Amino acid sequence: MDSEIKKVMVSREEIYETVKRVGREITEDYKDKIPLFVGILKGAVPFLADLIRVCDLDLEIDFMSVKSYGSSSKSTGEVRILKDLDYSVQGKDIIIVEDIIDSGYTLKYLKTNMIARGAKSVRIAAFLDKAARRVVDIDADYVGKKIENEFIVGYGMDYAEKWRGLADICALKNEVYEK
Ligand code: PRP
Repeated sequence: MDSEIKKVMVSREEIYETVKRVGREITEDYKDKIPLFVGILKGAVPFLADLIRVCDLDLEIDFMSVKSYGSSSKSTGEVRILKDLDYSVQGKDIIIVEDIIDSGYTLKYLKTNMIARGAKSVRIAAFLDKAARRVVDIDADYVGKKIENEFIVGYGMDYAEKWRGLADICALKNEVYEK
């Protein structure tokens, strides 16, 4: 294992089982609809790619890139759009897909933004929920796993753009991000 990795938090097998369970929940809830899955770049890419293949639905996908201001480990709450959606969300049933909900600033902003643009409904699917770090009052409608307050990488998540391609979700050793 990479010497900077402390431990595996969610194995690839557990990730796959979890995605299938979330996919079943979404399939049940949207069986008569055509939801638009909005992946938030970059961290959500593996989860979105896995999730759309286990949902037995007609669905659409789009992407947004946003930046939440502050240091890499601390959000300030100010969110800016770097890449907007290709199409309008007016009248659509939106599922925002995220790798992780942490302070909640990003998802609070995105949900408010989609509602303001006229989405018919907006729900959130987050693979990980770091509930201990929540600052604003927002929760995901579909949660893969609750996770303790570790610095997490892999399955799309990074530290300084590294480790996004790890198949398992891992915790970094403290000295890596504290130096
Ligand atoms: C991460 C994650 C969420 C956000 C969650 O993205 O993908 O978008 O932070 O944090 P919050 O709940 O405190 O707002 P990041 O800004 O690291 O970008 P990335 O997905 O490109 O890595």
